[in-house]
Amino acid sequence: MSSIESNVTETRVFPPADAVVKKATISGMAAYEALCKEADQDYAGFWARLAREHVSWKQPFTKSLDESKAPFYEWFADGKLNVSYNCLDRNIEAGLGDKVAIIFEADGGQVSKITYKELLVRVARFANALKAQGIKKGDRVLIYMPMSVEGVVAMQACARIGAIHSVVFGGFSAKSVQERIQDAGAVAVITSDEQCRGGKNIPLKPAVDDGIAMGGCESIKTVIVFKRTGGPCNMVAGRDIWWEDATAGQSDVCEPEWVGAEHPLFLLYTSGSTGKPKGVQHSSGGYLLHAILTMKWTFDIKPDDVFWCTADIGWVTGHTYITYGPLACGATEIVFEGVPTYPDAGRFWKTIEKHKVNIFYTAPTAIRSLIKAGENAPTTHPKNFDLSSLRILGSVGEPINPEAWMWYYNNVGGARCPIVDTFWQTETGGHMITPLPGATPLVPGSCTLPFPGIAAAIVDETGNDVEWGKGGFLVVKKPWPAMIRTIYGDPERYKKSYFPVDFGGNLYLAGDGAMRDAKTGYFTIMGRIDDVLNVSGHRMGTMEIESALVSNPLVAEAAVVGRPDDLTGEAICAFVVLKQARPTAEEAKKIANELRNWVGKEIGPIAKPKDIRFGENLPKTRSGKIMRRLLRSLAKGEEITQDVSTLENPGILDQLKQNA
Ligand code: PRX
Repeated sequence: MSSIESNVTETRVFPPADAVVKKATISGMAAYEALCKEADQDYAGFWARLAREHVSWKQPFTKSLDESKAPFYEWFADGKLNVSYNCLDRNIEAGLGDKVAIIFEADGGQVSKITYKELLVRVARFANALKAQGIKKGDRVLIYMPMSVEGVVAMQACARIGAIHSVVFGGFSAKSVQERIQDAGAVAVITSDEQCRGGKNIPLKPAVDDGIAMGGCESIKTVIVFKRTGGPCNMVAGRDIWWEDATAGQSDVCEPEWVGAEHPLFLLYTSGSTGKPKGVQHSSGGYLLHAILTMKWTFDIKPDDVFWCTADIGWVTGHTYITYGPLACGATEIVFEGVPTYPDAGRFWKTIEKHKVNIFYTAPTAIRSLIKAGENAPTTHPKNFDLSSLRILGSVGEPINPEAWMWYYNNVGGARCPIVDTFWQTETGGHMITPLPGATPLVPGSCTLPFPGIAAAIVDETGNDVEWGKGGFLVVKKPWPAMIRTIYGDPERYKKSYFPVDFGGNLYLAGDGAMRDAKTGYFTIMGRIDDVLNVSGHRMGTMEIESALVSNPLVAEAAVVGRPDDLTGEAICAFVVLKQARPTAEEAKKIANELRNWVGKEIGPIAKPKDIRFGENLPKTRSGKIMRRLLRSLAKGEEITQDVSTLENPGILDQLKQNA
């Protein structure tokens, strides 16, 4: 049974324990329903009330939602604020200056702590350094950094001066860096010499040098380099400057740049169904509001909590639940540089024990890999650690199969911690469909019900509601404050991707299939409906991987599909036609490896296909269209039962059954 089927047929229900309900900010289903009702009755008013209560404004807004340029919606547009002020200064003004903001847990296990006051000083000095380099409000700044306090400082410093950051995950290639610099027209890159992962030092700066050298990056005037390891690092005279030198002598005080609520806070590139990643643009005011509210309602964050989100700042989860949300709530959070399996698979549990983590947020792939590791190395099993500090667990990025959910619930949460399975996307800014821990009865594998004020629904291909119990397209029927504002430089693509006319032009199309339980209305996400794969919770476009493959001189044609994988959720399977004759088995292995490394260099190691199969051709219809459905069946190892009579070349199917 596939994990999606088993999610849909799940019948176990876990109501929240009384103790959890009693203390929760949103306590009981009636409180949840009251919020939904309030949103229903006066939608713009609901969000305006919350924006006034939870965000500090330099200049209050007078209007909540502006739909006049739909689907380019605006929220709180005449209000002015600064996101970094909301994350730092206002906590200090509230007496939290000496509270630990960040506990940095380095790859090797070294710990350093930094208070809100200290963090503000670091952000202010770095913000002044950026200004001294000529960087100003509205400029785009690429951040290509390892998990570090400095990564958070760099993002916060951009926010402080109104520069727009675009973080690129440290696992992406030089070419990805180049493409993002070009698309964003970035004026500066902030990077580090190396990164530390699993006990190894891995160079980072060369990818910036190589990316810029690929050309078309003339917009870059400055590269600021943080010294993480002190390893060898080439510095380009007149362009590159060490972090230490850039901040030396800078003032500890930097007046925040007060920006309009709609001022872009960041761009974050993500995969879509075409070859080119899209620069998802987020706002300042609406985004911050959702980051704060979801911290308070989904994670039920309390003043004494230690919060730990294991994501990387290169992904949206790291933006909302490391850099912005926890700090805007004055929380203490862990910033973790390492990997879950170093020095062994007990690392997460040891870190929770060491820092008495209360709220822990991670991805199903990590849980699945640790289940497996714990079977092979019993000392790393969570039962060997004191995890009694945990109060709430979270899951994000991909569907969690009920087996992994139960293991997480019992072994990590001691059968007492609610699991919030949070469905959301780079484009949504924060949680969209999620349990609230003190209210929602949990069902393993279901992300349950929409966050209050989120008009999630399931429709057919014409945009009409489908009945509960039937599958369809996941949409959001009303704009919400943290939603994507546009695709940077491509407003048409924004409209086409998210508000397609087939669906009426006014529904936000998430790109996922979903269904609601016939009785409870609980949502289950069934996976992407477009050519986007989800590998270990990382979003990859099949077209991006195909473009990378066909750019290799050996390759004539390539098609990429996903197939289910027990560990990574989905695995990448590439069908390749070479320019040369079909290789022998031995040759095939060698070329497959070469192609994997090629894709690793073009995009990043996470995009390397797990399976590669060679054929003299791809299965095509007589009109030349690749039959992807067949490829998906082949990838899964299924018998082909579909009608293949329209195939131009049925004989090809046999060739494509075997992995190289
Ligand atoms: O397919 C859904 C899946 O991840 C996609 C969004 O990926 P990305 O923009 O990289 O953001 C990931 C982190 C928010 C969605 O379209 N997804 C995300 N969370 C879940 C999920 N699928 C099922 N359950 C989830 N909780």
